[in-house]
Amino acid sequence: MDNSNILEQLQAKIMRESILSDGFLDFLQENKLPVDTLMAYYRCAIMEIETKFKVLNEQFSLRYDRNPIESIKTRIKSMESIMKKMRNKNLPITLSSIEEYIRDVAGVRVVCSFLDDIYMLADCLLQQDDITLIEKKDYIQNPKESGYRSLHLIIEVPIFLQDEKKNMKVEVQLRTIAMDFWASLEHKLRYKKNIPDEEAEQLAKELVECARTSAALDSRMQDIKNRIATEEEKHSNEEPKTIGDIILRNGLFNF
Ligand code: GTP
Ligand code: MG
Repeated sequence: MDNSNILEQLQAKIMRESILSDGFLDFLQENKLPVDTLMAYYRCAIMEIETKFKVLNEQFSLRYDRNPIESIKTRIKSMESIMKKMRNKNLPITLSSIEEYIRDVAGVRVVCSFLDDIYMLADCLLQQDDITLIEKKDYIQNPKESGYRSLHLIIEVPIFLQDEKKNMKVEVQLRTIAMDFWASLEHKLRYKKNIPDEEAEQLAKELVECARTSAALDSRMQDIKNRIATEEEKHSNEEPKTIGDIILRNGLFNF
């Protein structure tokens, strides 16, 4: 093991210990059941949101014969990250402050092929009468300095328990395949500690350039798709050729 590796492990150890010392460990031990329960509620909220997106994908697949969603990824923030964030924000260590201020405990990432589908899916979700929008951040219209693009929604969704209804916050990130590809590479750079400053700066610059290229690619792909759709529409008055055409045109499977 080389020195930088040992140093990195030491740093991680100190970080872990400082997180777990300041009463955090006591908090976790004393509140094991309520903490586990809260995390289970977040998992339920994720299931609700994931299902909503899967339903929309099904409907589009039947109605328009294509899937707007390429993939859905979900994650629960680790207790360690939650604690770190609470410490950085100087929040009181209570369950209610997690619920109130840590808005990304439950995360759902929806990856689409096309830009327009991002906004269409976000609108469809927000129109649903059990969803409350807490905050919308459009890093597609306004990319971050790093070059990061995605549409972020912080929403609240109810989960129905045995004898109560509970509203849970979920962070939804909607992005294209190109945005996702970019973000995962940039994330790697962000968390690599042993790259020399000069090289890291160079790589960050290159990534900003790649973000521009990927944004241009996203708009060109959207444009091509729109032109194909226009051509398809021109021919939609022609005789139907297959049973599938007849069913689709008559909307037999439309919800
Ligand atoms: P956090 O406290 O980190 O959650 O940030 P925030 O509350 O200001 O929210 P923001 O909407 O800026 O970012 C939330 C999430 O978006 C992050 O946890 C990442 O998953 C993603 N993200 C934001 N900026 C970047 C970026 O520059 N690069 C990458 N790879 N991901 C980003
Ligand atoms: Mg976050």
